[in-house]
Amino acid sequence: MGNGEYMGQLDRFWFKGLDFLGSRYSILGGAMTWISNHTLVSALSRAGGFGVLAGGSLSPEALRTEIKLTQKTVEGNPFGVNLIVFHPQIDALIQVCIEMGVTHVFLGGGMPSQPIIDTLHQYNIRVIGFAPSALLARRMVRMGVDALIIEGHEAGGHVGPISTHVLAQEILPIVDVPVFVAGGIGDGRSIMTYLLMGASGCQLGTRFVCASESCAHDAFKQAFIRAAARDATLSPQLDPAFPIIPVRGLENEGKKRFMAYQAEVIAAYKRNECSKEKAQMDIEMFWAGALRRAVMDGDVANGSVMAGQSVGMVTKIEPCYSIVHSLVTQALDHLQGLQHHFSQDVVAPAPEKPACVLVR
Ligand SMILES: Cc1cc2nc3c(=O)[nH]c(=O)nc-3n(C[C@H](O)[C@H](O)[C@H](O)COP(=O)(O)O)c2cc1C
Repeated sequence: MGNGEYMGQLDRFWFKGLDFLGSRYSILGGAMTWISNHTLVSALSRAGGFGVLAGGSLSPEALRTEIKLTQKTVEGNPFGVNLIVFHPQIDALIQVCIEMGVTHVFLGGGMPSQPIIDTLHQYNIRVIGFAPSALLARRMVRMGVDALIIEGHEAGGHVGPISTHVLAQEILPIVDVPVFVAGGIGDGRSIMTYLLMGASGCQLGTRFVCASESCAHDAFKQAFIRAAARDATLSPQLDPAFPIIPVRGLENEGKKRFMAYQAEVIAAYKRNECSKEKAQMDIEMFWAGALRRAVMDGDVANGSVMAGQSVGMVTKIEPCYSIVHSLVTQALDHLQGLQHHFSQDVVAPAPEKPACVLVR
């Protein structure tokens, strides 16, 4: 990357993140089920970022194969594995990570248990938790996680209720482990802003979906390229008595049918044709297999097209290298712009004008 003087300064801003991840840049490619396989993860890490394999929907054997293929192609660069804590085979998946010498494990889907954290630590594996609130951030740090991802409401996929910017303001000043900010980031200027606030780096998902190395179906990528920020909406919940886990994705026929389906199931429950538990389960199962249908089969009309609000900043298919390069260049431009701004402010006032003192 050019601009050596500013690169050195940027490195000082995200030093904690570089040290923790071992990558050239403190930019993580967040795990995306069906998309973050060895091809994308290797390309991301070779480009200087930090790729994370999505292990949430894999069997232990499939995870072993993905790790092996990543290790073969990543040219010695670091990468991590994302696991979902409520996966029925979580212990076996952790065992695979241990056996394969994985260095960083990201635990999503809720609070990780103490035995899981302790087991990973026994093998010197760095543990990263997801904190959707300041309360949970504090709790996870007390349990011993080595770093946090704070992911806001703007992100693609399953989201919490709090915006990224509010999470950053609440959490960055109170924890001393490295914190990586995620959700709604599509431009390096935003990365620089979070670094100035005290983040150790940032995680992006949506921005990497259209990487040339991403295996997502071309129809899925084209839907991203066409979409604007306002198209990435939450899955609609019809009745608070039947809560759903909010998922952010592109508007399509599937989402409209989901509303009608919830109405049908709730009406059946009200007519005493099924129990509340069965109705809740039926609603939850509506989307089973829907992400795979969109990502792998290209059915973007009926499947789940998970996407964050930064989708409007995805404008073309391009290699990971050029995405990472433009993010870092934008971060450097922002840093350079700030420095020009501040040095101009301290220039002495013109003699014919009354002297004024700028207080910062
Ligand atoms: C298509 C898609 C699938 C995702 N799948 C997962 C997942 O399996 N596990 C996970 O922890 N996060 C998942 N995420 C969240 C990303 O890892 C990342 O944190 C998020 O995309 C960051 O916000 P952004 O989309 O605004 O960049 C997914 C996001 C997208 C867009």
